[in-house]
Amino acid sequence: MNPWLLSIPLAYLLGSIPFGYLLVKIFRNEDIRATGSGNIGATNVARSGAKGLGIATLLLDAGKSFLAVKIAQHLAPGDWDLAVVVAVAAILGHVFPIWLGFRGGKGVASALGVMLALSPAAAACTFGVFLVVVLLTRYVSLASIIGSATFPLFGLYFIPHRSPIVIDGLLFIPLLVIIKHRENIRRLIAGTESRFGKKKAEA
Ligand code: G3P
Repeated sequence: MNPWLLSIPLAYLLGSIPFGYLLVKIFRNEDIRATGSGNIGATNVARSGAKGLGIATLLLDAGKSFLAVKIAQHLAPGDWDLAVVVAVAAILGHVFPIWLGFRGGKGVASALGVMLALSPAAAACTFGVFLVVVLLTRYVSLASIIGSATFPLFGLYFIPHRSPIVIDGLLFIPLLVIIKHRENIRRLIAGTESRFGKKKAEA
C-alpha cells in the first residue's frame, strides 16, 4: 500500500486519542473539559490536582504523535515531505479529534512528539526555549506560544530537506498551536492567566 495513503489517516487517528480526557475519566471519573481551562492537555490535567496523570498525559500525547511520524519514516525512509504531512495530520488529530466531536486540545505535547521524531536537535532547542519561559514566567501557555514559534527556525536549521511542503508544515504547526491559545492570549493580556503551580487566587 502507498505509504501516504496508510500513514496519514493512521496519524490522524493516533493523534485523535484524547489521553488527557481518557485518563481523567478512567482514574477520577471526571470530565477534564469541565475543570480549569477546559483543555484536555497535560497542563490542565495537572492543574486539576492529578499531577501524575498530567505527566502521563504529556508522555502519551507526545508519544502518539512521535509514533505516527516514526511509522511514516519507517514506511518511507527519507521522505521528509511525508514525515511532515504526517506530523501535521497527527497534530490535527489531537486538536480536532473525531472521538470528541472535533473539539480537542491545543497541540503542544503533540507538537513536541512530532518535533522529536523529525529532529531531536530541533525538539531539544524548542523545548529549551519553552523551559526558559516557563521558569521565568510560570505561564505554560506563554511558553507554548513562544516555544512553538521558534520551532520553524530550529526545524529549518536542522532538517536537511527544505521543500515547500516541509517549510509550510513547519510554519503551520506553530500557527495552529498559537490560534488554539487565543483564549490564553486574551487572559495573558488581561492579567488573568493562571501561573503553573499557583492556586487560582494567587494567579
Ligand atoms: O498545553 C497547553 C498549554 O499551553 C496551556 O494549557 O490548560 O493553560 O490552557 P491551559
